[in-house]
Amino acid sequence: MLPVAGAFVGLSTLDLVYRVAEPPAAGRKVQATGQEIAAGGPAANAAVTFATLSRAAGVPAGTTTLVTALGRHPLAGYVAAELASRQVTVLDATPERTGPPAVSSASVVQGSGERSVVSANAGGIDAAPPAALTEVVRAASVVLVDGHHPRLAIAAASAARAAGRLVLLDGGSWKPGLDALLSLVDVAVCAAEFRLPGAGSAAESAAELRHRYGVPAIAVTAGPAPVRWWQGHPGGASTAGEVAVPAVSVQDTLGAGDAFHGALAWAFATARGADLAAALGVAASVAAVRCETAGPRGWLADPRVGELARRWLARASGGSAC
Ligand SMILES: Nc1ncnc2c1ncn2[C@@H]1O[C@H](COP(=O)(O)OP(=O)(O)OP(=O)(O)O)[C@@H](O)[C@H]1O
Ligand SMILES: [Mg+2]
Repeated sequence: MLPVAGAFVGLSTLDLVYRVAEPPAAGRKVQATGQEIAAGGPAANAAVTFATLSRAAGVPAGTTTLVTALGRHPLAGYVAAELASRQVTVLDATPERTGPPAVSSASVVQGSGERSVVSANAGGIDAAPPAALTEVVRAASVVLVDGHHPRLAIAAASAARAAGRLVLLDGGSWKPGLDALLSLVDVAVCAAEFRLPGAGSAAESAAELRHRYGVPAIAVTAGPAPVRWWQGHPGGASTAGEVAVPAVSVQDTLGAGDAFHGALAWAFATARGADLAAALGVAASVAAVRCETAGPRGWLADPRVGELARRWLARASGGSAC
């Protein structure tokens, strides 16, 4: 098998993750029962998931590259080092930046696994595409954009379209620049809260994505509820369906969507042209493992991650996933 390479374009943060008995109410202090520090952000976490699946499955590891804006601040150095320890290479669009990266504060409630997040995201950083971006995109089988850092996303998606690489969008919320990005997207997987401007529901947004922007494949995730999908086919036919999400004992839902997107990117990178519902199914299974484990990174060592990846590869090479 050829090395599996992925390019992930978007936000990286430093995540301070607290485990709490109850979420902090306004004006109150709560003592955490545990804390962890890790890199975060949708594209960064998806890249970590992608690199982990390749390693766990014993696939020849191509490069997993995160194209983001970090800089020279010591906390940015921490983010890059943590990502490097997960086999993710950073292509930094703002290497001379001296300010701190976005620091995201997350609390996860013991028992329910429900997360609350405060983050500055990419606000105020206008990152221009670095010279090596096109080369990184050409070397990858799939390119995932999370919509943060719009100039990076549009440049990467344009280069991917020109090179025939698959472009996946993690649609968390409407962001500036998405209007120009969407027509370059092959598979848009949106959170249930995602709305195109003026759309009244997730289904309405999905319809607009297909008809106004020509996105050929769309899915909507909704936590424990089934993933809904729509797909257009050459000749004008279309199909739609739902993929069940495994029912699990939920410990931590922080970044569940990011794990889902990273696994979906990996499924398509290892089986180009894979059946959408099958790929969404393996992504949901990987995200379920993430939800069953407390903390942002502990789940990566769960043996089920490798089992899911190997089963997907066996299925893909047997032809049933393609
Ligand atoms: N409670 C849960 N039980 C099982 N799977 C879950 C649960 N919550 C999330 N997941 C898995 O993760 C996927 C993405 O979840 P969700 O729709 O909440 O993402 P999101 O809104 O993008 O959130 P985020 O990006 O902040 O993690 C779901 O489709 C499902 O596969
Ligand atoms: Mg999300």
